[in-house]
Amino acid sequence: MAELSDVENAVLGLIRQNPFAGQQQMADQLGLSRSAVAAHVVRLTERGFILGRGYLLPEEGRVVVIGGAVIDRKYLARAPLIAGTSNPVEGMRSFGGVARNVAENLAALGAGVSFVSAIGADESGRDLSRHLGARGIDVANLYALPDERTAEYAAILEPGGDLAYGIADMAIFDRLTPELVANAAPSLAAARLVFADCNLPAATLAALIDQRRGGRFELAIDAVSTPKVKKLPADLSGVDLLFLNLDEACAYIGSSFSRNINGMQQAAKALNEAGAATVILTSGTLGAVVSAGGAASTVPVVAARPVDMTGAGDAMIAGTLHHYLESGALHEAVRRGALIAALTTESAASVHPQMSIHFVEANLHRLGPIEGEAHV
Ligand SMILES: Nc1ncnc2c1ncn2[C@@H]1O[C@H](COP(=O)(O)OP(=O)(O)OP(=O)(O)O)[C@@H](O)[C@H]1O
Ligand SMILES: [Mg+2]
Repeated sequence: MAELSDVENAVLGLIRQNPFAGQQQMADQLGLSRSAVAAHVVRLTERGFILGRGYLLPEEGRVVVIGGAVIDRKYLARAPLIAGTSNPVEGMRSFGGVARNVAENLAALGAGVSFVSAIGADESGRDLSRHLGARGIDVANLYALPDERTAEYAAILEPGGDLAYGIADMAIFDRLTPELVANAAPSLAAARLVFADCNLPAATLAALIDQRRGGRFELAIDAVSTPKVKKLPADLSGVDLLFLNLDEACAYIGSSFSRNINGMQQAAKALNEAGAATVILTSGTLGAVVSAGGAASTVPVVAARPVDMTGAGDAMIAGTLHHYLESGALHEAVRRGALIAALTTESAASVHPQMSIHFVEANLHRLGPIEGEAHV
């Protein structure tokens, strides 16, 4: 396109990448003023490179997923690790991050998903973005930040598989500020459900909860880890669905609960009292407690032959949200979530490569009979 200047080409390139890009967003990316971008858009339209702007109507039932996107690396030592020297390993790379895993599972189950996160303007970031885009996930609000590195987690494992070191480079998540996430405001306003993970800064989680109070979408949040759950505000009103494990619940509440169904129910009730409408509290093979409106039910674990636990919790969330959106039946949704989690433990990948609604239906026989509700 010789007839276009470099800057016109750059503007057109951004529009081609993301037809929803706002003029201010393009201005920030190109280091121009908003009015300069507007002038380029007018000239490109006059010359037939842009056909015009349209009104876009939201797709019904869309889910917006906001939070961590990570490159996971695993290094399995061939011989016991020795500090201070070079150790031969077998290296593997995969895509992770709670929100990213949830988004990929939801898309595999057939949901319309938009993913909001930040990646570096590096090879890892481009791979992540391509991978999500190829799965039909809308990545218009996956921001490539030129001065940041894509988040990375590396696990260095002893020959038997025990973790020797876990190394996390996640500074980029601090950049997921309320201001950055505000670029996705139209997607959020149109969403049926927003899922966020606690990789987000506290201010962003608080802003989402605030927006939920005045918005139409339901808000689901996952705690991610014991340090990260503490980023949630003391008042959880506005959180429709809170997913967390027992350790994360103890860390948030600041007291300990016994590791059994009774302890799990008490912890869930305390979180309801803090304002979370529904709490889905898990504890590995103990299963899950679903607590809302003064009533709690339990969902037992689905028997599995696990090979890798990575991603089980995230699959549980996606399975629950998907069935909940389809049917509104929460207890049954968590049962489906438990099935999808069990299936995921049987795959080495953090998202089961065969995940689909047909795959889940073909395995429904693995769910036991429905248990009764108990009042607490
Ligand atoms: N060994 C297992 N076999 C079958 N299902 C399992 C097993 N472990 C966990 N699950 C399922 O996964 C759900 C979530 O697991 P868990 O409580 O370990 O989550 P988590 O601690 O948040 O883990 P993650 O690190 O994956 O987020 C459980 O409620 C259960 O249904
Ligand atoms: Mg978890």
